[in-house]
Amino acid sequence: MSSAGRRPFIAGNWKMHKTVGEAVALVRELAGMVSGVGETVEVAVAPPFTAIQPVAQALAGTRIGVAGQNCHWEASGAFTGEVSAPMLKEAGCRYVILGHSERRQFFGETDESVNRRLKAALANGLVPIVCVGETLAEREAGRTLEVVSRQVRGGLAGFDAAQVGGMVIAYEPVWAIGTGRTATSAQAQEVHAAVRALLAELAGGDTAARVRIQYGGSVKPDNAAELLGQPDVDGALVGGASLKASDFAAILRAAR
Ligand code: PGA
Repeated sequence: MSSAGRRPFIAGNWKMHKTVGEAVALVRELAGMVSGVGETVEVAVAPPFTAIQPVAQALAGTRIGVAGQNCHWEASGAFTGEVSAPMLKEAGCRYVILGHSERRQFFGETDESVNRRLKAALANGLVPIVCVGETLAEREAGRTLEVVSRQVRGGLAGFDAAQVGGMVIAYEPVWAIGTGRTATSAQAQEVHAAVRALLAELAGGDTAARVRIQYGGSVKPDNAAELLGQPDVDGALVGGASLKASDFAAILRAAR
């Protein structure tokens, strides 16, 4: 637990990796490894859509939750290639990742569309993990806090304190994702503290103190403890290292 009593939350973002067979094998291995860790740390994995239901079934009775990697704002309709929040919920998801930088970069996701997807997630009882983060050019131009604030304000526009209190934010500097180049713990802490201050402005101090803010971007077993040791870093959104059970389990142990 962090000083404010926030339970650390580690989520594995599998992106477009793992067939059904591979996904089920990975979570079986993981479930065996994390049985002792689960109590103190909240854990989730986000498989590709095709593997959500089999993974949820394989994880039934364990403390590992399942997350979608995105959801549409409508419950159903003519939106080829999209999946809705009620569909994720029924398939066994407890969480959904929204606004990941790869969605923003390659699939035209904007703060406005994130905001609409977020509404659908909450309306369907999914815990959203809202991703924000600056590009390298934005950081080098000294615009990190401005960009992240705009993303948080835009994504969370129109939500009340109770709704904000049910969200998880993931700060993921784009330049650190999949690059092996992680933010220093000081860089992470600076942005996390700024996000928490902004949440306090938007939703009040009590709510801001409750919201978990994950760090994401090349989190590995050997840097997790240092990052997670920061006062406003309440967990991690892990990409590459979540695809190997032993690495993911080591990150969970670092969070304990
Ligand atoms: P990475 O990805 O850990 O592979 O950098 C993190 C993410 O994109 O969520």
